[in-house]
Formats: sequence, C-alpha cells, structure tokens
Amino acid sequence: MTNTPDKAQRTYLKDYTPPDYLIPKIELDFDLGEKETRVRTQLWITRNGNHSRPLILNGEKLELASVALDGKVLDPQQWQRDDVTLTLLAVPARFTLDLETVISPITNTELSGLYASADTLCTQCEPEGFRRITYFLDRPDVLSVYRVTLRADQSRYPVLLANGNRVSSDKNGGRHHVIWEDPYPKPCYLFALVAGQLQFIEDEFTTQSGRKVQLRVYARERDLPQCDHAMTALREAMAWDEKTYNREYDLDHYNIVAVDDFNMGAMENKGLNVFNTRYVLALPATATDQDYRSVSDVIGHEYFHNWSGNRVTLRDWFQLSLKEGFTVFREQQFSAAHGSAGVKRIEDANLVRTQQFREDAGPMAHPIRPDSFVEINNFYTLTIYIKGAEVVRMLNRLVGNRAFVRGCNRYFEHHDGQAVTTDDFVQAIAQASGHDLTQFYRWYEQSGTPRLSSHGQFDAKLRRYHLRLKQVDCDLTQAHPALQMPIVTALFDRQGNPLTTRCDGGDEAGHQHTLNLTGAEQEFVFDDVDTPPVPSLLRGFSAPVILDTDHDDADLAVLMGHDNDPFNRWDAGQRLARQQILAWLDDAEDRALNESFAAAFSQTLEGDFNDRAFQALALKLPDENYLGEFIEVIDPEAIHQARRSVAKALVSRYQKAFLAHYHALKTPGPCRLDAASAGSRALRNTCLTYLMILEEESSFERALMQLKGADNMTDTLAALAALADQAHPARDEALAYFLERWREYPLVMDKWLRVQAISRCEDTVQRIAHLTEHECYQNDNPNKVHALIGAFAHGNPLRFHQPDGAGYHLVTEQLLATDPKNPQLAARLASAFNLWRRFEPGRRELMHQALERIRRHKHLSRDVSEITDRALADQKYQG
Ligand code: PHE
Ligand code: ZN
Repeated sequence: MTNTPDKAQRTYLKDYTPPDYLIPKIELDFDLGEKETRVRTQLWITRNGNHSRPLILNGEKLELASVALDGKVLDPQQWQRDDVTLTLLAVPARFTLDLETVISPITNTELSGLYASADTLCTQCEPEGFRRITYFLDRPDVLSVYRVTLRADQSRYPVLLANGNRVSSDKNGGRHHVIWEDPYPKPCYLFALVAGQLQFIEDEFTTQSGRKVQLRVYARERDLPQCDHAMTALREAMAWDEKTYNREYDLDHYNIVAVDDFNMGAMENKGLNVFNTRYVLALPATATDQDYRSVSDVIGHEYFHNWSGNRVTLRDWFQLSLKEGFTVFREQQFSAAHGSAGVKRIEDANLVRTQQFREDAGPMAHPIRPDSFVEINNFYTLTIYIKGAEVVRMLNRLVGNRAFVRGCNRYFEHHDGQAVTTDDFVQAIAQASGHDLTQFYRWYEQSGTPRLSSHGQFDAKLRRYHLRLKQVDCDLTQAHPALQMPIVTALFDRQGNPLTTRCDGGDEAGHQHTLNLTGAEQEFVFDDVDTPPVPSLLRGFSAPVILDTDHDDADLAVLMGHDNDPFNRWDAGQRLARQQILAWLDDAEDRALNESFAAAFSQTLEGDFNDRAFQALALKLPDENYLGEFIEVIDPEAIHQARRSVAKALVSRYQKAFLAHYHALKTPGPCRLDAASAGSRALRNTCLTYLMILEEESSFERALMQLKGADNMTDTLAALAALADQAHPARDEALAYFLERWREYPLVMDKWLRVQAISRCEDTVQRIAHLTEHECYQNDNPNKVHALIGAFAHGNPLRFHQPDGAGYHLVTEQLLATDPKNPQLAARLASAFNLWRRFEPGRRELMHQALERIRRHKHLSRDVSEITDRALADQKYQG
C-alpha cells in the first residue's frame, strides 16, 4: 500500500453534507471461505433530493467481479474505480445495484472488515470496515434494513450468525446456509457476521413488556465453562436499563461471541456483539477481581449501546462521543449500582485525571466533539470516551437525575431510528429540564483541561463563609470562554463533623450543595456557619478540572480522616502523598516524613473501614505518570526514586501494621467473589506489595507461598507482580512456575507478559526483547502486543524512559514491525512519545529522534503518521 496524497487528507466537521443517495434496503449473500469469500450484494438506492451528482461508493481492498444496474450488467466504461471508491456517473432516481466482490479474510491482518481469528470468521465494521466487505455508502447516516444469507461448509463453519432474527436455514451435501433479517434500519458499521466451530451457553430474559429474549454466549468449546459470569452480567444489564432508563431490548435474540483477535474491547453490533475474549471469560482461578468487574462493565456497555448508539445513531463520526460518552456514563452508573459506588467513582475519576488529562495536555488534545481528523480510528480516545462520560455526568448533576432521565427518554423517543448529533442530545436534556444549556455546550467544543482555583474566607460575626472560585485559564476571547460546571461542595468543622449550612441566600439548609459555576470568577456564600470550616470541594469529582485549593496539610488531614464523600476523602490523602513525594524530589538530602501525612496514612492503615477496597485504594501512592504532571521538566528516574523512598519510609515505620493486616485478612475456605471478599484481597495484596519493598528474605518467601497456594487469580497475580519487580532468584522461580501452570491459557499468559513488561528491574528491556520471541507471544494479536509492548511503553516510565534510549528503541522497532499488519495497533504504541517535549533534554532528544525515525519510515500508515506528525508539530512546551 502506498501513501497516495488523498490518504493524508483531513476531514472537517464543517464540510458535512447529507448523503447524495440513500440505501433503505440491502441484501447480502456470503459464500464464506477463509482464503476467499464471495459477497453478492443487492442495494436498493434512491436519490436524496434533486441533483445529478454521481453515486460514489466506498470500497477498499476489494476485488470487483461484477456490477449490474436494475439487473443489467454494466460494462467497465459505465463506472470508474480507484483504491477507495467506485463511481457511477449517471444513475436514475431509484434503482437497484448488484455487486459481486471477492475478499480474503485470512490475509486481513488489520482486523477490520471480515477476518479470521483462529478458525473462526468474524467481522468488525466500526468505523469504516464495511467498505472492506462490499462497495457501499460507508457513513453512519445511511441506514438500511438488512437481509443476510450466509453459506458455508457445514463441518468447518457449523455456526453461522448475523444481526437480527434467524429466519430460515437449509443444508445440502456438506454445505449449509442460514438467513438472517434485522428489521431495524441501521448504519453499516453495526453490521456483523460470525462463522465458526463455536459452542454456546444459553439463557432467557423476559422484558418488562413480556418479550422473551433468547440469550447466548458463544465461545470455543474449551472456553465455555468460563462464560457464566458474562451471562449473569448481561441479564443484570438488561434489567438495569429497564429499571433506570425504561429501555427494553427489541429483538428475539441477543448473541455474544468471544474471539481471541480483536482490536478493541468489544463491539455493539445489533443483536450480535463481538467481544474480545478478555471481556467475556472469567473463572476465579484465571480472572482477577478486576477482570470480573471489567467483564460486567463491558457486557453492560455493549448492551446499553442498543439504545445509545444503535436505535439512535450518529450523523457522522465527529459525533462519536454522543454514543460513547453517554454509554460509558450509563455503564458507570450500572457498575456503581452493583458494587461499591464510592470505589467505582474513585477509579473512574482517577483514570480521567491520570490518563485523560495527559492526553488533553499533549499533541492529541481534542474536544469531545472534534472539528477534524485524518484517521477516525485515532479518535477512539480517552477524551471521547471518558471525558465524554464526565460531561454527561455534569449534565445529570446540573439538571438533576429525574430531569436528566426525562431528557434521555425524550432523546430516545424523538430520535428513534435517526442519525443525530451531540447537539440533539443536549437539546433534549435542555427541553425536558427547562435549563438553558447554551453555555454548557462549550464542553463539547473546547479541548484541554480547565483549571480552577478556590479561596475561602470565614466571617465569624456574620456566621458566613465566602467561597471564591476562579476559572484560571479563562479569558474574554472566544478560545477560552468561561464554562458552566457543577461544583459539589460541603463544609466540615475542624473535628471533621459535617456542617449544615444555607448556600447563596437559599432557605434550604443542608450539608452538601451543588454550586452552579458559570462565571470566570464567582463568589458563593454559605450562611449559618458557626466555626471556621474546612471546605470539601468538587466532591465526587463533579467536574473534569484541575482544582487548586488553599487547603493546608491540617485541612487535608481532616478531610482524609472524615470526609463523607469517598472521592474527596481519597483525594485528600493523595494530595498529602503527592506533596510528600514532590518535596523529596526537590530535596534528596532532608528526607523526613511529614508528620501530618504519616499520621493520616497510619490512620488509614490501622483504621477500621468496612469498605476495604476503599482502604486499599487510599493506601496507594499516586502513580508516576500522574506525578509527572506536577513537574515542569520530567525526569522519570528521579520521580521513581522519590516515590519509592516515600513508600519505603512508610513501610519501614508501619511494618508491623502491614504484617498484621496481611495475616488477619487471609480468608479461610475457597475463594468467594462477593465485594467484601474482593475488598479484603485488595487490601491484603496492597500490604504484600508494600512489604516487598523492604526486600527481606521473608517477603520473598511470603510472596512465593501466596503464589503457589492461592486458589484465585487476584492473589496469584499480586504475588507474581510483586516478585517480577525484584532482582532476586525468587523472580525467575515465580515466572517459571506461573508459565508452567498457565501456558495453555492465552488470557492468563497476557498477565504473565504484562508483569514482566512493567517490571522495574534493570534488565527489563532485554527481557522484553526476548519475550517477543517467546511461543506465548504473537505480534499480530492485539492482546499480546498491548500486554507486552503497550504496557511497557505506557505503564513503565522508569524503563521506557531509561537514559540510554533502549526502551524507545524497543518500542520503535515493534511499532514499525506492527504497522504494516495492523496500523491501529501501531498507532496506539506511537502515542507513547506524545509528551516528548516535557522531558529533560537528554530524553527529549532521544524521543525526538525516535519520532523522526518513525516518520521517515517508508509506507507508514495514515494512523501512525497522524500521531507522529502531531507530536512533532506540538508547540505547547517549547520554551
Ligand atoms: N464501539 C465499541 C465500543 O463499544 C468500540 C470499538 C470501536 C470496537 C471500533 C471496535 C472498533 O466502545
Ligand atoms: Zn462503546
């Protein structure tokens, strides 16, 4: 493939025009084979409006066998074709088009379109994979009703699935066919088929209106015993969406298929979700508690898309966050309802702060509704997904949950069967709630993380507390106007007791108030305040912003010990910890623990929490990448050392308490999966990890014992990870033991690769280089590449950025080897160099060279070029 000039073209939102033609109906007939698949397509096409423009269909990597218009075969003068289109210059206002295309699943390494995963054939069409199956108007605002015939060899492909309802089947000799019809018009990105030797588990769900839905999870036979949790999660998700949004499922079948080779987590194809096995399979022995939660989350996510994405779909790809941000928000609500809501919120907010803020601070920064892109595949980003979800969460906060749900229902009902925009969504909420959301809409148009500062003043005489909030980056220009956002706030006295106050002249006394910040600078007044308060601001991380407060250490200690908002309680501890680490970073000589921090830490460690998952989170120090955001010029090694020294000082001082927990938290009997047991495991493993830092022989023995004795993957993996981080013979013993036990389980081997990829040991780079040759590693499988190279590049700052440049070199090599096969996968590695300008000169120069080397590479994909071009052009940090 060559870089033709039009490949580098940029697509702009402002250029959107409705399609020139519509395709209300399509029939597809597949003759399936892994080397060659023949696709016969019949399209019912109508002209959209009054014009004489040509019909330009999208198509890539297709062999075209024939074209017929209204049944008459066209000769080649009547159409034109290039690498990416098929053009018919003159067509009637209404006609049928018959096409025959030939494709080759087995050579499809991009995993987009129809491809082979082991001996299963499956499809991935979002965002632009359908054009690799047949010529079509491959854009989300062209909605069609599908009828699909699948033909194949019966013994090789006994299971034949497509979207919708199965209407008939037949067999003949060794061959068979199945016909599927999907009554709901859909864009082609939601088309799917699967063919293979799959088994299934089955269940049934009766919807609130009495429709019986047959539920199936398909997997390879050996994986079938691991599918029950996914099925349970599906049933929970269906019930939850009925209860919470009054949305029910609309087909007779809901099929989920798990495949090993998949670029993303999963895909919401109508009635036929295709999943990465990673988000389906789970048994205690093979999946961690975190994996269990991720499986339910992703199962829920794809199910919720049936309304937020499928029934109401996107006008164009600039609207991606309309379905993704909204669906992630729904997924988060679902998840919070089935576990510890506080812990869930901390995890989600932490991800925004540590990962999305980084994206927004670098060259790939974009609004949740971007204005332009080169390669849409590069925009499946944290910004679109999780900042998008935060924006929906703020809407919910500002108008209140009841009005929000009314607005969502209005949106679903008014736009059912349509392809719409983020503006339509916000309008529906505005209309149902009576709120004017014009200012709020700027969140969709503006990139970057807003910065706020707060300043409080107590007036004892008037029993009043004045809180001034300032949007720091805001100016009077169009580029940074003030945003509207909810700042959820409560006051405490200095003993940590919640205060009841009235806010802004209102007569309703309460503890917590939602401040509606709209101005660049705004003052809020709290009445009935009898004592100098400690404010708890931005509770629940009520807006995705950076907030600088005037809290001192003592204030933070009060909040860390007493705040009744889990996020802020956790965050107070994180801020103390961060200050401690940054202080040691500045001063390597005078390294004494700050006593307020140490006291607060020991309270968290020794306190009696009923939520141990919370306690475990509260004991973790902020991660190294996040700490880097508070430093002008990043030196990853110095950050690592400072953080590790703080951890070491803490575990030296409180070793007894860590040990006592470790022993007390061991639960007798076989592993239980309830939230409380998972919380105990999390806390116990946090203790194990801290204790390892002391590098005592007894710690290695303890971890080895845990590794070999555990009956669940959470404990096994925690022990393995702790040992893999130590240059000690126990490391190799542990890795060999684990390999021997789990080598037949690809998902478990991903964990084995990952712990080695993020090991802080000095030989990590060499070891990874060896592992790329290991039988368990395949450089064309996305899970493997993420586990080894992705985890290293994004999750091991110490070794990726080691000063000799060996880490950069390794990632560059792997990226360039991956790019010709799977550009999307390569592009996700390329983003590891995004923040190159933030680093100290030595590393900055090496990262710059790596980027230049990638950019100069011949035949670089559009995906990788867009990332590296933006990184190299980034001016943000130039002095
Ligand atoms: N739409 C999928 C989701 O649920 C993600 C995805 C995007 C999968 C592109 C494959 C390709 O988030
Ligand atoms: Zn999604």
